[in-house]
Amino acid sequence: MKIWAHRGCSQNNPENTLTAFSKAIELHGLAGIELDIQMSKDGEMVVIHDERVDRTTDGIGYVKDFTYAQLNKLWIETGNGQKEKIPTIKEVLDLIQDRMNAGLLLNIELKNSMIFYNGMEEKILDLISQRGLQDQTVYSSFYTKSLERIREEDSRSSVGILDTKVSDCFYKEKGCFGKNAVRTALHPFWRGMDFNRERLCGQTVRAWFTGHLYPEKPTGTRLDLSRLEQQGITDVFLNEPEAYLF
Ligand code: G3P
Ligand code: CA
Repeated sequence: MKIWAHRGCSQNNPENTLTAFSKAIELHGLAGIELDIQMSKDGEMVVIHDERVDRTTDGIGYVKDFTYAQLNKLWIETGNGQKEKIPTIKEVLDLIQDRMNAGLLLNIELKNSMIFYNGMEEKILDLISQRGLQDQTVYSSFYTKSLERIREEDSRSSVGILDTKVSDCFYKEKGCFGKNAVRTALHPFWRGMDFNRERLCGQTVRAWFTGHLYPEKPTGTRLDLSRLEQQGITDVFLNEPEAYLF
């Protein structure tokens, strides 16, 4: 089973922060890091899960309605009186690029299924290309048309098709990519495995989970990874990868 850090090490640190990503790059055997991008009013790509800043920062409003300078004035509480800012994707790449050059993968989820961010696909592809990180990057989105756009712009890009059921990921893949279904992976919810392993025939299936993020205390519950593997899951996005890797 390949283990990814979902929004960084987001169980014991605030999600999608440089702190959470710093902890992730320390882990031996980590397959990759997952993060989410949204875009500011003036086109800066920032790493934040929600369309709004309310849940994770001291601000109120939609990311799209703030300029980057305004977003940069918001604070994320990191515990013990410490705080940090919403990182840009460039800042995250600065932090993790050496580990990516050494093989770590990055899954960039474009959070564009609720808000249309004009030109986001081109912008992120350009940035990754400028840094020579194409082979280490997987793009995902719940908005499959956006992944189609990514593939049109860069026919070699790796994409992860997000949905709840693995069958829906599968049918979207067939419908959208057809014969171009190379370097595509299925990204279902872990409880959405409604195809068996044989039907999935060796495809990469990266499962995601919900809930249980910082500052909740870890429960100590451990997933039975071998059972998930038997269902055809090849990779898992975990909030607490450090509980499985050291
Ligand atoms: O990419 C898998 C997972 O991150 C999708 O759900 O809400 O955590 O972004 P969410
Ligand atoms: Ca995500």
